Amino acid sequence: MKAEEGITILKIGGSVITDKSSDDGSAKLDEIERIAAEISRFSGRLIIVHGAGSFGHPQAKRYALTEKFDAKGAIITHDSVKNLNRFVVNSLNKAGLNSVPVHPIGNTVCENGRIVRMFIEGIRIMLKNGFVPVLHGDVVMDTVLGISILSGDQIVPFLAMQLGAERIGIGSAKDGVLDNEGKTIETITSSNFRDIEKYIGASENTDVTGGMFGKVDELLKLCEISSITSYIFNASKNGNVLKFLNGENIGTAINNTGK
Ligand SMILES: Nc1ncnc2c1ncn2[C@@H]1O[C@H](COP(=O)(O)OP(=O)(O)O)[C@@H](O)[C@H]1O
Ligand SMILES: [Mg+2]
Repeated sequence: MKAEEGITILKIGGSVITDKSSDDGSAKLDEIERIAAEISRFSGRLIIVHGAGSFGHPQAKRYALTEKFDAKGAIITHDSVKNLNRFVVNSLNKAGLNSVPVHPIGNTVCENGRIVRMFIEGIRIMLKNGFVPVLHGDVVMDTVLGISILSGDQIVPFLAMQLGAERIGIGSAKDGVLDNEGKTIETITSSNFRDIEKYIGASENTDVTGGMFGKVDELLKLCEISSITSYIFNASKNGNVLKFLNGENIGTAINNTGK
C-alpha cells in the first residue's frame, strides 16, 4: 500500500451478494468469497460499501421505515444488515485483507433522509494504516424523522467528497445502466440524462432506496459538484471487480465531461 495513492471507493450491491428475491436475509456466500478474493489482489487505499439486499430492504418495508418511525423495526433491520456485514468482513479478512466493520447507525446523522454529518476520522486513520473500512446501507438517526434508511448509494458519493476519492465503482447485477434494448449506456451526463431517464427505473426486487434510478441520481449529483467520474458495472461477472480496481473503465460512466 502506498500512502500517497488515491482512494478508491467500491460499492457491492445487495443484488450481487444476497438473493434479493428472498424476504429475509439470504446471503450468496460463494459470491462474497469470490469478490473478496478479487479485492484481495488490489493493494491501493480502498473503502468498501455494501448494500443490504434481502438483509435490509424486506425488513425496512415490513416495518414501513420509510413512512413512519418504528424503533423496534429499526433495530431488527439494522441487526439483520449487520449479519450480512459480518459475512463480508470475515470473507475479506480470510482472503488476507485487514477489513473493519463501520456501521453507519453509530456515526451518521441524516436530515429528512440526506446525510448531514458523518464521523469519518476513524476511516481516515484506517486508510492511512492499511485497513479496509467496510460500510453498508443502514438505519441511521435523523434530525427530523427520528430514523431514516440510508442507502449505500448515498454513502459512496458522500465519502468521495469528504475524502477526495479518485475512483468510484458501483457494482450491481446488470452490465451497467441499460437502454430500452438492453444495451449498456456508455456515458451518462446531466445533458443526456433527460433523453435516457425514461429507461431507468427502480429495482425488480424489493429495494426501498430507488434501484438503478437512485444510483444514477446520486452519481449525477456528485459530478455536478465535483469532477469525479463514477462507473456502474456488473460485479456478478467473474473478474469485473478486479478489472475495475485495476483501472479498467467498465460498465456505464457517469460524469460531467461526456467522455
Ligand atoms: N435502465 C436500467 N438498467 C439497469 N438496471 C435497471 C434499469 N432500470 C431499472 N433497473 C433495475 O435496477 C436494479 C439495480 O438496482 P438495485 O436492485 O437497487 O441494485 P443493488 O442491489 O445493486 O443496489 C437492476 O437489477 C434492475 O432490476
Ligand atoms: Mg439498491
